[in-house]
Amino acid sequence: MIIIKTDSYEDMSKKAASIIAEQIISKPNSVIGLATGSTPIGTYEELVKLNKASEIDFSDITTFNLDEYRGLPRDNDQSYYYFMNDNLFDHVNIDKSRTHVPNGMIEDADLECGNYEAAIKAAGGVDLQLVGIGHNGHIGFNEPSDEFDKVTHCVDLTESTIEANKRFFASIDDVPRQAYTMGIGTIMAAKKVVVVANGTGKAEIVKAAFQGPITPKVPASALQLHQNVIVVCDAEAAALLED
Ligand code: GLP
Repeated sequence: MIIIKTDSYEDMSKKAASIIAEQIISKPNSVIGLATGSTPIGTYEELVKLNKASEIDFSDITTFNLDEYRGLPRDNDQSYYYFMNDNLFDHVNIDKSRTHVPNGMIEDADLECGNYEAAIKAAGGVDLQLVGIGHNGHIGFNEPSDEFDKVTHCVDLTESTIEANKRFFASIDDVPRQAYTMGIGTIMAAKKVVVVANGTGKAEIVKAAFQGPITPKVPASALQLHQNVIVVCDAEAAALLED
């Protein structure tokens, strides 16, 4: 695991975007795994700039997002489908038919999650997966648990996640209680994983996840077992890490 400490959110975003750009340049038909949340927004802004400057080309890129709320229509501005269009896909030369976000409106969870997992495999697997980290160590929506979930599945969100995400909704009652998410196994199967984390609020979980014991109680800790992980933090999120 490589941990890169940057000075600021802007530098974290530029560094993460440059790693993704390098992937796209070296393999123009890469399969890229994408993340939502507030952390990667700056990374997407940098990727949009690089695309507009013709430094990277998305025309042959395929994408798979980590997760989606269950039961939230795609045109709801809090759906991850909406987020991805708004923050990235609408602003780059990507073929939207190659972009994939689990469909939270398909009620049959096993069907949708099974199809999603199969689509990732059919695309040849993920070359580079971008992930953020939740305050409780979740990646995608893999919440702390007794075991690491292997494949794309339906999860019940924990109270702490509902609490953390309520800021994006009109009221806490509007926050969906379930989500479809890639499993830890799906994420671990990516050839490369790039984690982004910023802010003081993430310092403790960054330390626990990447320098603490490997346990499904801290889902991101599984990444310590991955052969090709780059964690890109700002100074605040990296504050408790030991050299
Ligand atoms: C959500 C997403 C995660 C994300 C997390 C942290 O729960 N499902 O993929 O990493 O939020 O979000 P933020 O980056 O806003 O702290």
